[in-house]
Amino acid sequence: MSVKIAPSLLSADFAKLSAEITDAELGGADWLHLDVMDGHFVPNITFGPPLIKTIRKTTKLYLDTHLMISHPSQYVDAFIDAGSDMVTFHVEAEDDPKEVLTKIKAKGAQCGMVINPDTEASRLEPFLNDLDMVLVMSVFPGFGGQSFMPEVLPKIKDLRDLGFQGEIELDGGISPETAPEAIAAGATVLVAGSAIFGTADRRASIAAIRGANKEDSVAG
Ligand code: DX5
Ligand code: ZN
Repeated sequence: MSVKIAPSLLSADFAKLSAEITDAELGGADWLHLDVMDGHFVPNITFGPPLIKTIRKTTKLYLDTHLMISHPSQYVDAFIDAGSDMVTFHVEAEDDPKEVLTKIKAKGAQCGMVINPDTEASRLEPFLNDLDMVLVMSVFPGFGGQSFMPEVLPKIKDLRDLGFQGEIELDGGISPETAPEAIAAGATVLVAGSAIFGTADRRASIAAIRGANKEDSVAG
């Protein structure tokens, strides 16, 4: 199976969001990654359910909503009602992870938990059987355009050793240069913001990141 590419809208031109999304979709994106920040869990603020509702109307892409917020429990229903297919939240957030996970699944969306670069994979052990995805951060969350942290890559094997069989997504600093390492380490979904929306030719950038998966390209 080829790796999935999830462009992060954070680096898109918000003045022409619909054109940017279409460009990513026609350029071969598999998912669209939506970064929600509350100015509390991370020192930056982005957008919320109303914008996602608008995005849902403009694209059929699978919407992967990454909540970088302190109280996900209070908001997950609104993000699912807005049209998110997958909701991921940080295990470091203040709410009880099991409660948030249960809410997301009860509402019929897919669910992932996120770990920061300084959080061990083992922290997710009690939840792994119920998760569709684990998101391993390869930068500290808050901003696009940061440098990839290769030291997080062994967590992918740690998760598989714990028996996790779902998707493993990497987020932060992914580019055609860093993607080969991420794929070799076993990532199945790659988020990329600046390396896609920061370039003029989104199709070429998506292909360059995915093309790092050479065995798959040969196999078609
Ligand atoms: C960081 C966000 C990322 C970010 C990635 O807090 O979670 O999704 O948009 O941006 P790049 O690919 O530029 O590192
Ligand atoms: Zn993200």
